Amino acid sequence: MSTISLPTAYPPQTHRRRKRGRRIRRRLILALAILSLSSLTGASLTWLGVALADHFSLPPAQADPLSADRGQENQTERDWRLTLVNADHPMEEGYVPELTTIDASGRQIDCRIAEELNQMLSDMKKEGLSPLVCSAYRTWDKQAGLFHSQVNKQKAQGLSGPEAAAAASAVVAAPGTSEHQLGLAVDIVALDYQTLDDGQERTLEFQWLQEHCWEYGFILRYPPKLSHRTGVIYEPWHYRYVGSEAAWSIMSQGICLEDYLGA
Ligand code: DAL
Ligand code: ZN
Repeated sequence: MSTISLPTAYPPQTHRRRKRGRRIRRRLILALAILSLSSLTGASLTWLGVALADHFSLPPAQADPLSADRGQENQTERDWRLTLVNADHPMEEGYVPELTTIDASGRQIDCRIAEELNQMLSDMKKEGLSPLVCSAYRTWDKQAGLFHSQVNKQKAQGLSGPEAAAAASAVVAAPGTSEHQLGLAVDIVALDYQTLDDGQERTLEFQWLQEHCWEYGFILRYPPKLSHRTGVIYEPWHYRYVGSEAAWSIMSQGICLEDYLGA
């Protein structure tokens, strides 16, 4: 199966929606109070409005529930979140992010995404799910080793050297072109289904991530039917951090990072 469901509502049942509901209720109460006292003078009304607003701690009007996040995502932060690495955009050689360890297995990621990744995994576990991060940051040598193994596998199928390298890079990125080397990507599978194939779609862990990963700033990086854009096969386990604003846009439209960036 290669059809994936997209987040169905904006935002889904999250703390953001609950907060918004409370804000709307508060604004209704405020409007009713002001209307029912409309016989007061303009000056009194102004004073009353300010007093009520203070009392209810009204936040500034927000057209977009993510605008608070947007305010925090200044341009400098966006640059690293949206770094594009693919076969056409290799990374700077020798780049090593500031790393932090995420679990007892010693897997590491860019420390800037640790809080949101850990929160996402923890929220999944609270809902009775069992996500397993089976791959995270990879050194250049690690990526090179994985790539060469894949090339050898393809050669064993009868492909020539160049054909094998081309076929391999759709499955394992050549060294210098993998997001795992950025420390911004993780492979997440279900504990009870650890095979890296389309069967991940049937797991509850995948289905939860499909709906919620954007809330934590992650996207399903290699969606179905977009291999011609990404250069990589459909990978229903590879999640890439881009920040919640870009993640919402990408996941809700069913596009890929290349499309989002116009690259
Ligand atoms: N499997 C993905 C493309 C990687 O190796 O980064
Ligand atoms: Zn991956």
